[in-house]
Amino acid sequence: MAGLIPKHFIHDLVDRADIVEVVDSRVPLKKAGRNYQACCPFHNEKSPSFTVAPDKQFYHCFGCGEHGNALDFLMKFDGLEFVEAIEELASMLGVEVPRETNGNPQADAKKREQAANDYELMEQASKFFAKQLRQHSNSAKVIEYLKGRGLSGEIVKAFDIGYAPDGWDQLLQSLGRGPQSREQLLELKLANRNDQGRVYDFFRDRVMFPIRDRRGRVVGFGGRVLSAEQGPKYLNSPETRIFHKGRELYGFYQVRQAHKQPERVIIVEGYMDVVALAQAGIDYAVASLGTATTTEQLQMLFRATNQVTCCYDGDRAGRDAAWRALENALPLLNDGVALDFLFLPDGEDPDTLVRKEGKAAFEQRLQQAQSFIDYFFAHLTDGLQLDTDSGKSALLKQAKPLIERVASAFYRETLLERLARLLRRDVSQVSAHISVAKAAAKQAESFKITPMRRAIGLLLQHPQVAATIPLHPQLQGLKIAGMKLLLALHEQTHQGCHSTAQLLERWRDSKEESALRQLARWEHHLDDEAVLRELCDIFVYFIDQFVEQRASQLLEKERHTPLTQVEKREYQELLRYRSDKGKSQ
Ligand code: UTP
Ligand code: MN
Repeated sequence: MAGLIPKHFIHDLVDRADIVEVVDSRVPLKKAGRNYQACCPFHNEKSPSFTVAPDKQFYHCFGCGEHGNALDFLMKFDGLEFVEAIEELASMLGVEVPRETNGNPQADAKKREQAANDYELMEQASKFFAKQLRQHSNSAKVIEYLKGRGLSGEIVKAFDIGYAPDGWDQLLQSLGRGPQSREQLLELKLANRNDQGRVYDFFRDRVMFPIRDRRGRVVGFGGRVLSAEQGPKYLNSPETRIFHKGRELYGFYQVRQAHKQPERVIIVEGYMDVVALAQAGIDYAVASLGTATTTEQLQMLFRATNQVTCCYDGDRAGRDAAWRALENALPLLNDGVALDFLFLPDGEDPDTLVRKEGKAAFEQRLQQAQSFIDYFFAHLTDGLQLDTDSGKSALLKQAKPLIERVASAFYRETLLERLARLLRRDVSQVSAHISVAKAAAKQAESFKITPMRRAIGLLLQHPQVAATIPLHPQLQGLKIAGMKLLLALHEQTHQGCHSTAQLLERWRDSKEESALRQLARWEHHLDDEAVLRELCDIFVYFIDQFVEQRASQLLEKERHTPLTQVEKREYQELLRYRSDKGKSQ
């Protein structure tokens, strides 16, 4: 892959971007006082609580709590990964994204060109298959097959379904004429080389489903046989330098085309399930690609929607797939998101069922899907005898590590309550076994607004004010939680971070990030002057504490070792500070 994007470039980019312009390009904004407003694009509302603050370069919705800088907005609204959001923002500003090179810029440039070229070739292959579906001599047979499965021309087009012709080298003849493009087709696994060195098309005589990434680029294919006798039912592109199965979801791009913010997205098992559901008007389904749904895929979904429904066959394989999806989803279960499970009757899949029952009945089933909490305990208690101690302890043992992984304190507590009921114990007895209960209490504690939190919050929200206050690196010596962070942030305001957005960007992916985000949204109702006064007061308060602490340290030391000249002078200065302070009060 290409090299890392230099940090300073990201910081400059956030500095140069105007959040108002970025948001306005997606969600038209109206001026309201110093800020801008709109109805929140991330939840349903009638009166606007989504606010963009140009001075902070920060957006925040008072309704649903969504917030962040220009990059966060693009990630959330466009459903992009971090690097993609950087690329998008850079292209909006008309600048190119540099990559850190290992001293070989040519090789890096070549790689980037290669990637662009790969996507282009995949697109051409997709067009080739679509054209064969219309023109090939087998065309009538294939179209008959698709019609037989209930698909209209319109849906076939929306998913760019095509046909890979029989014969050995139709695609190669069309796209692989030169030795270079031949090699590229091999690398993208559209062609194979056999032991004799003969090169031939990978997909032959199959219905082709192009797999697009979230930006709409074709990265792979699935190909289905037309009749049962022709080998494996589905053949999928193997992993390539542009195709990683665990990261893509079939149909995700089409869902995003149909809905900017879908209310719900369902995960199904097969390509045909996605297409058949769309044909029936359920245009919000995706399929994981023949593997268990990964955390990465679920994350991609939870960026786009708050409700994900896993829809699997009721058989053993379907249940295994569902449970693995649940395990992978635990760290993503934040407040406000919902995950549920729908198991289909024996022998049915979403394709057969929606064709039999229609859209309304299928959506009715979705409404009645099992919540992840119900499914969680249904799965874990299956086969256990909860009226015995061994059954109870087995349940506790299995549930414990899983509950600890859940992101939301609310969900963790709900799971704990349910667990306690099943074990016939008090919640407090059960939670003693589970470290999250303590973690949750600690988290609640940490949201109290202490002087340190106020200082960090004010500084974060008013970096330009903070930049006028001199730095106090000596406070490093004062042992108060958060001091290092405060001083680092303060230094950053002196180094030219003059918006909340820029500061937050510097702490992305750090362990401090979530606390900082909380503080960036904290409402204090102070004007700039009051902010300056309070920040100064807090600094003075810390300095006083520091003086006391240092003075008593020196005094303590003097009791067994004489102080050095330097220490003596320091001690006198501390005393002078104290007495000046006394006079001024
Ligand atoms: P299914 O066997 O459930 O197929 O496989 P399906 O989607 O119902 O297919 P139709 O209705 O017969 O056309 C579900 C998914 O598992 C993967 C594919 O991704 C498929 O969509 N699979 C299945 C394979 O990769 N290879 C296979 O041979 C079969
Ligand atoms: Mn099927």
